[in-house]
Amino acid sequence: MGRILVTGGSGYIGSHTVVALLEAGYEVVSIDDHSRSHDFIMDRIKQITGTEVVNHRINLVDRATLEDFFCNEHTGITGVIHFAAYKAVGESVANPLLYFENNLVGQINLMRCVDQYNIPHFVFSSSCTVYGNPESLPVTESSPLLEPESPYGRTKLIGEAFLRDWVLVCPTRVAALRYFNPVGAHPSALIGEFSRGVPENLLPYITQTAAGIRERLTIYGRDYPTRDGTCVRDYLHVCDVALAHVAALKHLERHTDAPPFDVFNLGSGVGQTVLEMVQAFEEVTGTPLTYTFGERRTGDVVAVYADNRKAREQLGWSTLYSLQDMLRTAWAWEQALSQSHNTRQ
Ligand SMILES: NC(=O)c1ccc[n+]([C@@H]2O[C@H](COP(=O)([O-])OP(=O)(O)OC[C@H]3O[C@@H](n4cnc5c(N)ncnc54)[C@H](O)[C@@H]3O)[C@@H](O)[C@H]2O)c1
Repeated sequence: MGRILVTGGSGYIGSHTVVALLEAGYEVVSIDDHSRSHDFIMDRIKQITGTEVVNHRINLVDRATLEDFFCNEHTGITGVIHFAAYKAVGESVANPLLYFENNLVGQINLMRCVDQYNIPHFVFSSSCTVYGNPESLPVTESSPLLEPESPYGRTKLIGEAFLRDWVLVCPTRVAALRYFNPVGAHPSALIGEFSRGVPENLLPYITQTAAGIRERLTIYGRDYPTRDGTCVRDYLHVCDVALAHVAALKHLERHTDAPPFDVFNLGSGVGQTVLEMVQAFEEVTGTPLTYTFGERRTGDVVAVYADNRKAREQLGWSTLYSLQDMLRTAWAWEQALSQSHNTRQ
């Protein structure tokens, strides 16, 4: 088993993936500047797995410090999983340069080091935002890539394009994973998602409303052309997303004849409306929710869900966690957060 560098290893998906990598027998080293996460996450990972993972507090945009890290630490690294990026759509609209610098300059600096030390495998966090408002559903990996709805979405589209061009001239092989809507938390409730301010995503908004942090949930739009008038999304458990990264690494390791750049949809393949999620949450947790309808939100796509056949057939991955698991673990995480006030950002 190789040694894997995880960037953004203290973040939401990164921390769950570090756990999955350790459980699969990999050695892990992390880079995270904690700009969007807490420094105690590695202690939580140790509580879950019994293994200590070292996090290097480095900003990927700081090229000289990143190069020093690689110079000292590259020995034995066989793969990089690159999560470290900012992801708030609204913030990216207000401050596009922050997103271009953090997400794209950080990625270029990382690619330079991977190139210099000939690291063979690279897994990239992409997003279903690259499909925009798709004309036909479910979306496959060959569905058209549309004009991004936000500067954040643009960094994912450009990030993929950088990698696509780069593999033509370097020996590294890349799997880009296009996540749909990762939700839920580790069953231990020791790691999960930290939302900053009013959540942009539905599930943290639901759990914060149920916990009394928000007065009511606002459902944006009730006149969409969907079965109940609310938007449709494809939710999958964050632990399933984490396991897909392990599967993608193994795929790159085993299939040396696989394309040097490949993309995989990571979704459950099922579309849920906002109202269905609200009702399912109430049923699973027995907690009633106060909600109201608001105007449609600029940039929200009507409906998107994945055709996940490629990931199932080529990565040998499939979802293990149900919608009920997603809602139950998200709620357990919210309750754990409420009990330790200092961990809420
Ligand atoms: N969560 C989602 O719904 C979702 C959906 C699609 C794609 N993604 C992508 O997945 C990746 C991980 O998302 P997440 O939900 O875990 O986000 P997150 O904010 O929880 O984690 C990102 C981590 O990266 C770190 N980081 C950010 N910029 C950095 C930099 N320049 N140098 C070093 N560390 C830095 C942050 O401190 C944080 O710990 C991101 O690239 C995101 O765009 C997330």
